[in-house]
Amino acid sequence: MSNLMESVFERAKLAGKTIVLAEGEEGRIIQAAIKVSALKIAKVVLLGNPDVIISKASEAELKGITIVDYKTSPLKDKYANLIYELRKDKGVTLEKAYELINNYLYFGVAMVKAGDADGMVAGSICATGDVLRPALQIIKSKPGIKTVSSCFVMILPENSPYKVNNVLLFADCAVNPAPTAEQLADIAVATAQSARQIAGISPKIAMLSFSTKGSAKHELVDKVTDATRILKETSPELDVDGELQADAALVASVGQLKSPGSSVAGKANVLVFPDLQAGNIGYKLVQRLCGAEAIGPLCQGFAKPVNDLSRGCSPDDVVAVVAMTALQA
Ligand code: ACO
Repeated sequence: MSNLMESVFERAKLAGKTIVLAEGEEGRIIQAAIKVSALKIAKVVLLGNPDVIISKASEAELKGITIVDYKTSPLKDKYANLIYELRKDKGVTLEKAYELINNYLYFGVAMVKAGDADGMVAGSICATGDVLRPALQIIKSKPGIKTVSSCFVMILPENSPYKVNNVLLFADCAVNPAPTAEQLADIAVATAQSARQIAGISPKIAMLSFSTKGSAKHELVDKVTDATRILKETSPELDVDGELQADAALVASVGQLKSPGSSVAGKANVLVFPDLQAGNIGYKLVQRLCGAEAIGPLCQGFAKPVNDLSRGCSPDDVVAVVAMTALQA
């Protein structure tokens, strides 16, 4: 296990949070819940039919884990009313709210919104959009951030030739397909917070493009320079530079040549990609070609944490995301 993950587990234990695992009948989720509970990383709530869950694990293993049958729970009334109040202006009737609450993803986010859990993790069997939509509708973004986004914590292998940083954050790799300049600025602010909160590093933010400091002219480049300007105006405390090409962001000699005097160029540890195609492709290339560990996608900017899993996730992947969700809470 990397030093970073050891530190995440230790800090999560101290936080003492309650995390709801919405896909509670799924075998990998049950295994993860057992491990999270045994290691005291968080208190766990599994949503699902108790008979189904108990058939997949022993009573001793499930000790200390709360099982909530979302289809019969008395909490349904409270959560349906909560959803109705929050969404009636969007045309959601009380009847529709009861229908939504029969879906474990809506039940889970309502539980978090109501303060009955501190965060939710799902996505081992549901698509990213299906996990995020209820959270976007019910939990919404935190004050000061309009855009919910995501990041990956990339841990480079020990034998990596890149020695400047071994932990980098990449964003947005999973949520916003075509961010505007304002949204890119929001993504950078949220990723800086994740860098401090999750990775424990001081963010040096590169706003990435195919141009460095005016070397190319294109409206796609303008979007990144606009985002950088917004960031410098609204978050002057952040250490940010842009627009930068990836080599100018990461390699000292190239950074000094292309952006002389920059405190970020050549040593960036937060890479903000200009859109989802670049971000999603970028993290997968580094993961597959460099053997980097890619932890995420971690959602950022929600008023309360909700995180998505990859459908190929293992129980240990789920444990890691639960620990990080506890830290975000
Ligand atoms: N931040 C804040 N609020 C948002 C955001 C956002 N990024 N996106 C949507 N919303 C809000 C909307 O304003 C709306 O609010 P309202 O209903 O109160 O008016 C609500 O969320 C729902 O919005 P929709 O437009 O109906 O939601 P949409 O269907 O666009 O879904 C989603 C949003 C799921 C994030 C979509 O953009 C999406 O599918 N993104 C890509 C996900 C994906 O496939 N990623 C790649 C795979 S992941 C991987 O490889 C690791």
